[in-house]
Amino acid sequence: MRKPKDYRAVIGNTEYLPIVIGGMGVDVSTSAMVLEAARLGCIGHLSDAMVPALCDRHFGTTFTKNKAERYHRLQAEEPAQVHVPQFNPQEYRLAQMQYISNTVEKKQGTGGVFVNCMEKLQIGSAREILEVRLRASLDAGVDGITLSAGLHGNSMKMMSEHPRFRDAKIGIIVSSWRALRLFLRSASRVDRMPDYIVVEGPLAGGHLGFGDDWTQYVLKEIVADVMNNLEQEGLKIPVIPAGGIFDAEDTMFFLEMGAAAVQVATRFTVAKESGLTDTAKQTFFEAEENDVFVAPVSPTGYPIRLLRSSPCLNSNIAPQCIPLGYAMDSKGRCQYVDAYNATGISESGKKLPVVEKMCLCYHIGRYDTWTCGASVVRLKETAERDSRGIYQQPTTEQIIQEYLGERTAEVKERQERRMCVAQERGV
Ligand SMILES: Cc1cc2nc3c(=O)[nH]c(=O)nc-3n(C[C@H](O)[C@H](O)[C@H](O)COP(=O)(O)O)c2cc1C
Repeated sequence: MRKPKDYRAVIGNTEYLPIVIGGMGVDVSTSAMVLEAARLGCIGHLSDAMVPALCDRHFGTTFTKNKAERYHRLQAEEPAQVHVPQFNPQEYRLAQMQYISNTVEKKQGTGGVFVNCMEKLQIGSAREILEVRLRASLDAGVDGITLSAGLHGNSMKMMSEHPRFRDAKIGIIVSSWRALRLFLRSASRVDRMPDYIVVEGPLAGGHLGFGDDWTQYVLKEIVADVMNNLEQEGLKIPVIPAGGIFDAEDTMFFLEMGAAAVQVATRFTVAKESGLTDTAKQTFFEAEENDVFVAPVSPTGYPIRLLRSSPCLNSNIAPQCIPLGYAMDSKGRCQYVDAYNATGISESGKKLPVVEKMCLCYHIGRYDTWTCGASVVRLKETAERDSRGIYQQPTTEQIIQEYLGERTAEVKERQERRMCVAQERGV
């Protein structure tokens, strides 16, 4: 019987094992996790969300402080001219280069270090900074760039003059053939088709590429639709399904359907190498069906799947646009700022909780935007608890091996143990 480890994803001219760890911002898919994926012959994604702030945390740079100082200086000199985002493209480029090359330089193995470029973060200047992010990622030597669902009408063009434009792998995440068709049109204008297409369904973690009607969609149907349409157009582009793919069996389903690989994330949120705090990881393990919901609280305007206990919800933190401001558009607008300003104060003079939106920059940077895929409720199946009831975090390597169908004995043993415990409890 074939297992996922017997398949290879051919992306561009490179063969990978068919497991792709999706980008998990901010710093949930850490450098250590991505390097493990690459070492094992798979693909791992860094997320490029809030990179200057991450450089400050990891490398002691002062990009965030510099940005705030630029704002205050300008405000003192010419208050009428100041719109909050004061990102400096040169500084942004330095940050992006540093963040990505720090991982690329340490790569071992035949897998890939890719970056997920999240266009939904406007970063004050949708075009200018996006171009900086894309080109600096290529300069830093990243193996591949995955454009995460946004419109990305100009992304290919922005990179088209770069010497690595045709040698680096470039892919896109879409949730429908309709979105893909638009992207393919813009790609054909620079005569460069994507090397792979991630088709993300409604059960994924992070922001969803669907509206309120996300429950109407089923991943395998969208994948089949995309594959059929590609075939009709005579396009042979590897397809990589994502969203709710939990184990080797699910992986096999899509590989047998003709997918090149699968993109997965939620299982890795609780890995030793995940950037989430231990408290968040334990909460993820313990999650039950009722603890998870899809909420309209992200200032990006896209729905996001969250645990109800996420500390980001109903917080009243003052907007952090001066140091951060990654969710602000070019006019200096952020949906959280609007929601904050519209929220009143209590009788005792305290700001009331901001219910409609959350400050994504502040909370995601502090690891307390607990976003997860719908399969988070199954994480408890995948780990043992110690005598204190604490779930033991698996390593990235162990999770990858399980997806590849390499640890079937351990998985079976765990399932049997769980069933025994359930029987003992009379469940
Ligand atoms: C904690 C977390 C953070 C995520 N962050 C991002 C992100 O920054 N950009 C993005 O395109 N997708 C993001 N995603 C989506 C994943 O990359 C992936 O495509 C999806 O979650 C796969 O489904 P699964 O989690 O059910 O395996 C995130 C997912 C999780 C769980």
